[in-house]
Amino acid sequence: MQALPRADPSHAARAPVRVVVARTLPAAGLDKLRARFDVETGGLPSRRDWLLEHVPGASAIVADPTVPVDGALLDLAGDSLQVVSNFAVGFDNIDTDAIRERGLRATNTPDVLTNATAELAVALMQATGRRIVETDQILRRGEWVGWEPEQYLGRELAGATVGLVGFGRIGQRVAALLRGFEPRLVFSSAHPKDEAAAEHGAERMQLGELLAVCDYVSLHVNLTPATTHLIDAAALAAMKPGSILVNTCRGAVVDTAALVQALRSGPLAGAGLDVYENEPAVPEELAELPNTVLVPHIGSATRSTRDAMAELCADNVIAVLGGEEPLTPVI
Ligand code: DGY
Repeated sequence: MQALPRADPSHAARAPVRVVVARTLPAAGLDKLRARFDVETGGLPSRRDWLLEHVPGASAIVADPTVPVDGALLDLAGDSLQVVSNFAVGFDNIDTDAIRERGLRATNTPDVLTNATAELAVALMQATGRRIVETDQILRRGEWVGWEPEQYLGRELAGATVGLVGFGRIGQRVAALLRGFEPRLVFSSAHPKDEAAAEHGAERMQLGELLAVCDYVSLHVNLTPATTHLIDAAALAAMKPGSILVNTCRGAVVDTAALVQALRSGPLAGAGLDVYENEPAVPEELAELPNTVLVPHIGSATRSTRDAMAELCADNVIAVLGGEEPLTPVI
């Protein structure tokens, strides 16, 4: 009797390697992935049901801040899964314990977005401090009655005390960009950061002290259980009367209800926000206040930065699936 042909042991190795992009990725990264792998994209807006349907058998998942990556999703992907590559520096959307427990890798996109995000933080300081959006709207509504000696007074960065909560890459870049405005720079950080402090002429303080002395406070921390509502009602109440809060990190670092209260009845003079607790929802109370500048999570939104993020995101997938160390690992 003729022997049955044996299964080809190399078959699995030759099966197309699948990469599932939960939503989409700029071409700078997507084209690199498509050149090497079988790539499927969920498109916009984010659809969990699509992802759950397509993830079985994937070797890599490309996620972003709007895509929760939890144990259930990882398990559905199965044994083929090796890496979750996040198209963002923040990775609070990823259950890192679940990644670790399953022996997987997770990556993010640090460095390439540092400058764009820091520039936006400075822009929000100025837009809020100099009342740029509020007065633009007054003018457009035809309510400007002409120049007056004490009209629309704001505050300068020169001579102001600016506090950076978190003094990592982005916090330090904000310090560098601010140098020309000549503020007094202070920062709070879990680590001493002596070298960076000396480089930027910034003084380290405890958070409570920083909040009490700063004219501007800009947030640059990762969202973790420890930083969730770091800026709560008590922290806001401790801020210097007339000060301005800028948030370009994650919305949940600030208690929004308490922020609305602090903007309505003090001590805050204004807030410049790029991020919100339940994006894309933005509470009406925030939008109704004249002393807020609100932009829709655009910290990294420049062509060159998003392209660089997409490339790095793809390169991390390529590295891990090629058996190499990822370029920018989280886990
Ligand atoms: C990030 O990278 O974490 C931003 O929020 C999106 O650019």
